[in-house]
Amino acid sequence: MRIVVLTGAGISAESGLGTFRDVDGIWTKYPLEDLATPEGFAKNPEFVQGFYNARRANGVKAEPNAAHVALAQLQSHISSIGGNMTIVTQNIDDLHERGGSAPDSILHMHGEIFKSRCSACEHVSFCDHDLTMQDSCSNCGRQGTLRPHVVWFGEMPFFLDEIDALMQRADTFVSIGTSGEVYPAAGLVSMANALGKHTVELNLEPSSNARAFGEAHYGKATDVVPLWVDQMITKTVR
Ligand code: OAD
Repeated sequence: MRIVVLTGAGISAESGLGTFRDVDGIWTKYPLEDLATPEGFAKNPEFVQGFYNARRANGVKAEPNAAHVALAQLQSHISSIGGNMTIVTQNIDDLHERGGSAPDSILHMHGEIFKSRCSACEHVSFCDHDLTMQDSCSNCGRQGTLRPHVVWFGEMPFFLDEIDALMQRADTFVSIGTSGEVYPAAGLVSMANALGKHTVELNLEPSSNARAFGEAHYGKATDVVPLWVDQMITKTVR
């Protein structure tokens, strides 16, 4: 059995990390174009660094929830029966890793808040502290070139070739806690359907793509994900 799981902000909501488009979502309070675009960063880098510094600090405080842990359990079960499960996440937090999923089976397509990147030499480093424009790159030594290692609107998401290859080989595609508003992630369900895969949506409420899924369960991630995982484990026990 080969599963690709796509996750979005909804899976981390009950860990205290805000979603983007719900009532009180991040993009209802802050202008996306100022905070999540290369142009916004060029215009006011300290403002953007401050926003991501706050998100990093929130990420340190957040704990993985029952949905992250259940996915890790499913992943280990699928491996034990000779299959493979990869988590493609749009989330920049590290809650899948801390929830017990294997780090090499998690693809952060929108980057990672606990990493910085030098825009001069592209060097990526672990980063658990505030970034400022006074910082220097540990690799090339230039000052003012470090930015959060995240993908902004107008930039290419990471791992697109790997995701494509995984989708070709998968038999099941599962989307969890994502609104289906941001491409290319939102297009993966159409790709899965075109390839004849089984598709599952687990979300608080039907997403923009809800009609494209063959199976759907709605409710809080900490309820629906463990339930679905239990069903999957029961169905596939040897
Ligand atoms: P959104 O905020 O767009 O959508 C969150 C989804 O999670 C919605 O469909 C909610 O119904 C659902 N949700 C909320 N609470 C939930 C809960 N407790 N359990 C289950 N589901 C819940 O977030 P994303 O789809 O992740 O990109 O957004 C995609 C991308 O847009 C993000 O990666 C980010 C953002 O702008 C960049 O910044 C590049």
